[in-house]
Amino acid sequence: MPTGSTEKIPFEKLYQGGEKSGPLMPWNIGGPQPAVRAICDQGGFRGHVLDLGCGLGDNALYLASTGLRVSAVDISEVAVQCGRDKARDNDVTIDFQVADAFSLATSGARYDTVLDSAFFHTLPAEDVPRYTELLRTLCNEDAELHLFTFSKELTPDYPGPRRVSEPELRDAFGAEWDIKVIEATRYHSSLPPEAVSRMVDPRTFEVDAPTDNLAEQMIDEAGNVVSWIWHMHAVLRPQETRSETPA
Ligand SMILES: C[S@@+](CC[C@H](N)C(=O)[O-])C[C@H]1O[C@@H](n2cnc3c(N)ncnc32)[C@H](O)[C@@H]1O
Repeated sequence: MPTGSTEKIPFEKLYQGGEKSGPLMPWNIGGPQPAVRAICDQGGFRGHVLDLGCGLGDNALYLASTGLRVSAVDISEVAVQCGRDKARDNDVTIDFQVADAFSLATSGARYDTVLDSAFFHTLPAEDVPRYTELLRTLCNEDAELHLFTFSKELTPDYPGPRRVSEPELRDAFGAEWDIKVIEATRYHSSLPPEAVSRMVDPRTFEVDAPTDNLAEQMIDEAGNVVSWIWHMHAVLRPQETRSETPA
């Protein structure tokens, strides 16, 4: 799908496609993202955790399996049902909800850590102010955010959703969030290189700009592409120190 596109991706349709559209779901790696797992293992998640745009629930499942209290939200009923089944099969408690993330603003719920694994970059750029307002509403004082987003700097030539630059992240979050780090980390996919270079646009089901000369690719043990992605870790500033302009 063209980078920076403002058209919505039909996620529910993708998930309903099941196996047939497996190649359209590069995030479905059948387990937690190793970077999320590593942050969790280092104690980076605390309190009540919200997994926004949780997809098939593997990150939430991992976090909850370590004893964390986890809520997880996705707009797709099929994806959430899949997450619920996994939680049940693993005897783990997760508060799953099928909802548009933006509808949570009026829920009254508050969280201590928010995980956004590849959700932010699926939003059109014009939704960024709504998104930051949503986070402000959903977060307790001192809440932490771990956000993973495809990056303009790291993989500009990959097909896929919107790319976000480091200055854009600082611009969007810097006024309200104390950005601890924006670092390159690895994002695992379920796609071999040939599928990445022939990525299908989920809105048209047509191949999006075939790319034979992707920048150097990392491949995991299963032969699937691992790409670089920004990980931003930020802590919500106390209300009185939040400013109109990014710090
Ligand atoms: C690229 S997938 C990432 C899934 C998961 N976080 C992961 O890392 O495997 C993005 C997810 O965001 C969900 N999503 C998109 N728009 C949403 C919205 N407005 N509210 C809630 N979920 C949404 C999609 O259904 C999809 O599952």
